[in-house]
Amino acid sequence: MRHMMSPLDLTVEELDNLLHLASDIEKNPDKYAHACDRKKLATCFYEPSTRTRLSFEAAMQNLGGSVLGFSSADSSSAAKGESVSDTIRVISCYADICAIRHPKEGAALVASSKSGIPVINAGDGGHQHPTQTLTDLMTIHSLKGRLSDLTIGLCGDLKFGRTVHSLIHALIRYPNIKFVLISPEELRIPSYIRQDVLEKHGIPFVEMERLEDAMPDLDILYMTRVQKERFFNEEDYVRMKDFYILTKEKLSLAKEDMLVLHPLPRVNEISVEVDDDPRAVYFKQVQYGVYIRMALILTLLKWKEEP
Ligand code: NCD
Repeated sequence: MRHMMSPLDLTVEELDNLLHLASDIEKNPDKYAHACDRKKLATCFYEPSTRTRLSFEAAMQNLGGSVLGFSSADSSSAAKGESVSDTIRVISCYADICAIRHPKEGAALVASSKSGIPVINAGDGGHQHPTQTLTDLMTIHSLKGRLSDLTIGLCGDLKFGRTVHSLIHALIRYPNIKFVLISPEELRIPSYIRQDVLEKHGIPFVEMERLEDAMPDLDILYMTRVQKERFFNEEDYVRMKDFYILTKEKLSLAKEDMLVLHPLPRVNEISVEVDDDPRAVYFKQVQYGVYIRMALILTLLKWKEEP
């Protein structure tokens, strides 16, 4: 049985197959409308979510399956002190596959080790968020036609932003990828990613503070929210929260075919006036998130049944 803890759990070839399946689902949704009849997806969310949980639920329903689960720790037995390991053993008796989000790094991995069903990490603290990465890859692949030969600007909270961490892991496997890491000093990419991922694999990257300086070179600009819930004090958050605001004026420095992605939710980091620019694709990105999660659910369930 296979789980999905990190984007690296899939080989590049498996990832290609997944992207291929997701785009077939996009083109021929009716073909897949009963692919998961009588199957159940459990969503176990110990942290807030709109897109990830609802897109998993929509994905399973589009496949003819059904969903059950909880959307906060307070409404589950976690509030009574039950461990994640015990909860997943119980959920394994109710559902065929599970997506879990938890504020602790490694929680999904712990769950997978005790689970009788495939577990998908839907975000573990400031660590990883592999299905957002699949969404991001499908968005880039569909709209740019490639995952290689790209200069990618990652902007905002690179320290706590789990979507950024997963995306870097995934993209370094493609040829000729360069990163521009745009953040305030306090929110720089963690050294375990700078050294153990980027430097170790000889991936070209630069770190800078000013978004305007990076803009003209970028093929992709990946904006992120300052991760309020991971700060130790409110004061630091307030100081950082409006550090970057992408405006029309700043976007005018970008290439005509640059794409602006954002995992959402957006707070202030992209001005709403940018939404109408054809380069702003963050709401399209949400739609791709449903197709790729449909493809992932199908694939993990298929692997589960194979001898
Ligand atoms: C992201 C997350 O939860 O890490 N949201 C999402 O799943 N689309 C990004 C964020 O919360 O800022």
